[in-house]
Amino acid sequence: MYLGLDLGTSGLRGLLVSDDGYAVGEASANYGVQHQQTGWSEQDPQDWINACQSVMDSLRASYANEYKRLRGIGISGHMHGAVCLDEAGKVIRHCILWNDTRAAKEALELDMQPKFRALSGNIVFPGFTAPKLLWMARHEPNNFARVAKVLLPKDYLVYWLTGELTSEMSDAAGTSWLDVGKRDWSRALIDGSGMRPDQMPKVIEGSDIVGEVRGEIIADLSLPANITVVAGAGDNAAAACGIGAFREGQGFVSLGTSGVLLAAKDNYAPEPASAVHTFCHAVSGKWYQMGVILSATDSLNWLAETMGKTAQDLAKNLPDRVAGPADVRFLPYLSGERTPHNDAVARGAFIGLSKASNADILCQSVMEGVGFALRDCLEALKSTGTELPSVIAIGGGSSSHFWLQTLSNILNIPLHLPVKGDFGAALGAARLAMLGIGGRPSAEVMVPPIIERSFEPDPNYNAAYDTAYYKYTKSYIALKELM
Ligand code: XUL
Repeated sequence: MYLGLDLGTSGLRGLLVSDDGYAVGEASANYGVQHQQTGWSEQDPQDWINACQSVMDSLRASYANEYKRLRGIGISGHMHGAVCLDEAGKVIRHCILWNDTRAAKEALELDMQPKFRALSGNIVFPGFTAPKLLWMARHEPNNFARVAKVLLPKDYLVYWLTGELTSEMSDAAGTSWLDVGKRDWSRALIDGSGMRPDQMPKVIEGSDIVGEVRGEIIADLSLPANITVVAGAGDNAAAACGIGAFREGQGFVSLGTSGVLLAAKDNYAPEPASAVHTFCHAVSGKWYQMGVILSATDSLNWLAETMGKTAQDLAKNLPDRVAGPADVRFLPYLSGERTPHNDAVARGAFIGLSKASNADILCQSVMEGVGFALRDCLEALKSTGTELPSVIAIGGGSSSHFWLQTLSNILNIPLHLPVKGDFGAALGAARLAMLGIGGRPSAEVMVPPIIERSFEPDPNYNAAYDTAYYKYTKSYIALKELM
């Protein structure tokens, strides 16, 4: 029995997976994000530990037999966050998250040094880890002076479970300190951002074994002895493992807090100028490319909260059939944007409001705005020569068939929705544990899910969505100066 833990932005999920790869039970616990200032986004790592303890307790209560047979754990988590530890291994300050753009100035300064794009294969985006540390050096010098090690969020959970300080490759690729082609830390990048090599933990591959769960935790959580923990993966690489996307041409679209269009790559082929991210896959010897938008379900949740409703309430009022784009355009740049604009100060907008713009229209236009932002990602991927003939749809937003049909129309490719189940980062993390501990080959473990339903682009509305997309791209250009 294996356990996949996924440290998400809004909560932690645990998935029990049998030795033959089937999901047998799950539990989750939520936590919040603190936004002390516009553009800031933080979490207390202690909240992750509390959530992890509560998830383990729920799993033990609901699946006692399976829990007793646990032999391995894999962990996935939101990327780029900086968990800074002092000499004693204590957390120095709250974690600054992936969608925090306070370090925009520092990111630009690093990005201007040609070696950053050349070695890391990516733009230094404000949400990446290196600029956050430079921001700390300038704004919190006392905290910065105490930094003995920098861990990524899920690597901090690995540390809590095992006592071992490690950095896993797919996540380390999003720090701007890794030579992504060589799959190793780059001395030049570490020096170039004012850090020291000894502040970086040892970097290892996703299915590498880190160690065993510590004795105190075994006792606290009533776990069986000798549970092995593998390194795991950043959430997008883990989700790719969960849907079996590790070969060229395979990919997914994810409607989570962030939105992601991911394509697996056999080779390292970076194109930083396109604002496409090129990262190491969690499967060794593989890479992936992705376009990332910062507010996907975050945009819909924002609209719902503003109206005093839930996103589910809003979505369930939409018709079953998608009959072309709404008249209102929405720009989903609530937290700035990564692909393709790399613009930390971009902000959201509704354009074309009229007295007919009721809650349903606004909901539709928010879903479309996220779709157009993902179309920007598809165009950016295409500009690098990457083709995605079709993709699997994952993430919380994929429960809306209206949204998926809209997205298929906008992207003009088929979307495949897996049978209701557990295809995502937690399954991918459990699969990495199966590889590392069970010694199984990736082709046997990383299999695609069974598809429940496919969404084909509707040719009747092709031209209408292309026109709406054109207006969407023009809107950003026109409003950029005013944001
Ligand atoms: C990827 C990214 C997000 C986070 C949160 O670069 O920033 O997808 O990993 O999911």
